[in-house]
Amino acid sequence: MEKFREDSILFVCLGNICRSPIAEGIAKEFAKNMGIDILIESRGTSNYHVGEGACSNSISVSLEHGINITGHRAKQLSESDLEKFHHIIALDESNFLDIDHPRCIKLGEFGFNGADVPDPYHYRDRDGFLEVFRMIESAVQNLLNEKF
Ligand code: 4NP
Repeated sequence: MEKFREDSILFVCLGNICRSPIAEGIAKEFAKNMGIDILIESRGTSNYHVGEGACSNSISVSLEHGINITGHRAKQLSESDLEKFHHIIALDESNFLDIDHPRCIKLGEFGFNGADVPDPYHYRDRDGFLEVFRMIESAVQNLLNEKF
């Protein structure tokens, strides 16, 4: 098993193809700009999309903001992930309840009064993804400022 790292963040959504890959990409970019070395990854609570790339809207909205997540491949959350990462960040309430871990916090706690990052998979058009991107960007910035 890989060692626990204090300076680590794991973002978790349902499929690990829409929201948490965006959060991972943004956090890596911010950490790089801040000059800090943090282990940053993402997972899905489900196995629905394991091995797939990020969804096309997440890729294109991220690219427009200078964040390249084309190399992402979806992984399912495992017990060992929960032992390896310090900050476990759920994208919405159902992810939070599924993860059920004392170190888990919702991303919305960082500037959005605990609100869910909406699941864009079924219902959201491209504008919806842009909204989701902006919410994640702002919350991730707050998270990094507060924790690092
Ligand atoms: P994500 O979005 O959790 O942000 O990756 C979803 C992706 C896939 C499904 C639901 C949400 N799905 O039901 O397959």
